[in-house]
Amino acid sequence: MPKSVAEARVLAVTSGKGGVGKTNVALNLAIALANRVQRVVLWDADLGLANVQVLMRLQPRGDLSDVLAEQKSIREILIDTPVGIKIVPGASGDEHLANLSVRERLVFSEAIRDLVQEADFIIIDTGAGISANTTDFARAADDVLVVTTPEPTALVDAYAAIKVVHNGAPWSRIHLVVNMARDEKEAGRAMLRLESMAAHYVGSRLIKEGYILFDHAVGSAVRQRAPFLLAYPTSQAASAIWKMADSLLKTRDLPKEARAEPAKAPGVLERLRTLLGGE
Ligand SMILES: Nc1ncnc2c1ncn2[C@@H]1O[C@H](COP(=O)(O)OP(=O)(O)OP(=O)(O)O)[C@@H](O)[C@H]1O
Ligand SMILES: [Mg+2]
Repeated sequence: MPKSVAEARVLAVTSGKGGVGKTNVALNLAIALANRVQRVVLWDADLGLANVQVLMRLQPRGDLSDVLAEQKSIREILIDTPVGIKIVPGASGDEHLANLSVRERLVFSEAIRDLVQEADFIIIDTGAGISANTTDFARAADDVLVVTTPEPTALVDAYAAIKVVHNGAPWSRIHLVVNMARDEKEAGRAMLRLESMAAHYVGSRLIKEGYILFDHAVGSAVRQRAPFLLAYPTSQAASAIWKMADSLLKTRDLPKEARAEPAKAPGVLERLRTLLGGE
């Protein structure tokens, strides 16, 4: 039986600094969740480079600009993959999304409604940084996964991203992932550092989701243009992703104090419509 639209969970994967592993985390997490019998749509919303399709060797039949032009429906541009996830292909450099006409907003709104009905999870791979595009997508989410490396510069930028997400979307749960740490100790230190920086802002809403160590399997998989979860299923990075997927499934019903103002959280459709620039 199809689920009601309100049940689709939107998870934005974001970061302060670029190149910290968002696309790899988003893609592999999406595959792991699909394997846990979730219907997963991965939305490549990085307006810079259409990353996901490069990593997956995908040939899109269209993108969101075709939906807006009413040439194609969202179902027609969704790419079905053999790994159990569907992908909304990125519209490379599509600045137009930030400035839609009234008619286009309606079209987009309908498209999002369709998308929400397709999925239990919508995972959005946002661009890096605190640009309007990235923060709009983060505001549309129930859960925001902030990816950082242990480098001091990445931590400071992650803190800035957490602040922006907190201010824009006080209802969201913020998850922290430390990627490319040399060892467990370094990952732990980075987590604690960011947690103490952000404590007065987000308090108990910051969920220390876990870490992925620097793992050559990730780079090798990227070069093969295959998700590391499948290309290197026994790698450390792959087991970290499985753990993360299972933990995310458990946080669906997290205690209320983990969300600042649960009562005020708008519904998923309403939040996704904020992508249209409205409130
Ligand atoms: N755990 C890891 N171990 C080793 N290398 C990694 C790891 N995670 C990511 N990388 C490497 O870092 C590079 C950047 O990763 P990715 O493209 O996922 O980052 P991103 O945050 O999406 O970047 P952008 O901001 O450009 O979109 C990849 O080429 C990958 O090889
Ligand atoms: Mg990316």
